[in-house]
Amino acid sequence: MATALARTHEAYDVARVRGDFPILARHVNGHPLVYLDSAASSQRPRAVIEAVDHYETHCHANVHRGVHALSQAATDAFEGARERVRRFLNARSVKEIIFTRGTTEAINLVANAWARPRLGPGDEILITWLEHHANIVPWQMVCAATGATLKVAPIDERGELRFEAWEALLSPRTRLVAVGHVSNALGTVLPVARIVKAAHARGVPVLLDGAQAVPHGGADVQALDCDFYAFSAHKLYGPTGIGVLYGREALLREMPPWQGGGDMILSVSFEGTTYNDLPWKFEAGTPNISGAVGLGAAIDYLETLGPGAVHAHEQRLLAKATAAALGIPGLRVIGTATDKAAVLSFTVEGIHPHDLGTILDHEGVAIRTGHHCAMPVMDFFGIPATARASFACYNDDADIERLIRALHTAREVFS
Ligand code: ALA
Repeated sequence: MATALARTHEAYDVARVRGDFPILARHVNGHPLVYLDSAASSQRPRAVIEAVDHYETHCHANVHRGVHALSQAATDAFEGARERVRRFLNARSVKEIIFTRGTTEAINLVANAWARPRLGPGDEILITWLEHHANIVPWQMVCAATGATLKVAPIDERGELRFEAWEALLSPRTRLVAVGHVSNALGTVLPVARIVKAAHARGVPVLLDGAQAVPHGGADVQALDCDFYAFSAHKLYGPTGIGVLYGREALLREMPPWQGGGDMILSVSFEGTTYNDLPWKFEAGTPNISGAVGLGAAIDYLETLGPGAVHAHEQRLLAKATAAALGIPGLRVIGTATDKAAVLSFTVEGIHPHDLGTILDHEGVAIRTGHHCAMPVMDFFGIPATARASFACYNDDADIERLIRALHTAREVFS
């Protein structure tokens, strides 16, 4: 703890940060690993691995139901993690923090428990062309079930939202705005403050998909003034299979439960069932307890580094990598927004992104290739796929040098 506190006052020491991530010591295909796929899933620091291990070794039992010591320890750990998330998001109450399997389930919860019961023919849901499939398909399903219409706001060639065109699509029939805080495919940071203000001026609630935003500086739901906010732990240095839906308490109260089962009830009889209070009304069944513990530890870890310091470090890496990549003949950066998170998407003339990914992997450099679960973005740019390097708290200048060297190798292979 003394080390952790001291670290917040020091300059960003990436070598020490790297030492916190055991996986970075491994070799891949005979080379030291360069991990540039954190937008898909980040690696876990020892603090998270140990917190989960400690919980599993010493504390595990089911939550909320037992009077025995272990059940109470597990409940304390689980509910402690919820309070940790509340502070991280600056939510007003733990009642507003629902644990889910991840961002996708969080958005599906809103689609099923908020949108489906309310929407009908003629109503509209407004999204953008930049969305991840998780912020498209649930709304298509709501529209198919209710007769509502999905409206999609356009982007420009930089990969930025055309805000005026988005605003023009806000209509008296718009019932919900759903927007990514940061585009996973391009890194574009969306103008969410303006979006929330414009939507609220018309009485329209806003859901923000924060999966790609929280690792790069956190999120303050009161400052954002959003109505729903979703994120996943595994992109935030935490475990897979656990995420969060923040919902404004007044909205959550009005929503029926989505899934039924244990833990989401106060009493059950064949005459009728009484649902549990918030937040448990939306958490049917035994939850991912160790996942929540790991998420709490991941938040502690990020806050020890300082989300602002991590953001500044990543922005420096992004600028350096972008400049270096532009020196490679035939390389085209896809997504050149003024405000970007640490994502560098690109194509190289004459080399399919999947081939690029394979050659880089042979060099020990892990990047993502494909449509990144954002096929409409690829369609907009007229390409099937991109190669995507994404940066996190543990990447350093040597990683960029290895990336650029491997890209030159790929060009030589295909020349
Ligand atoms: N949504 C994840 C990504 O952007 C999988 O790669």
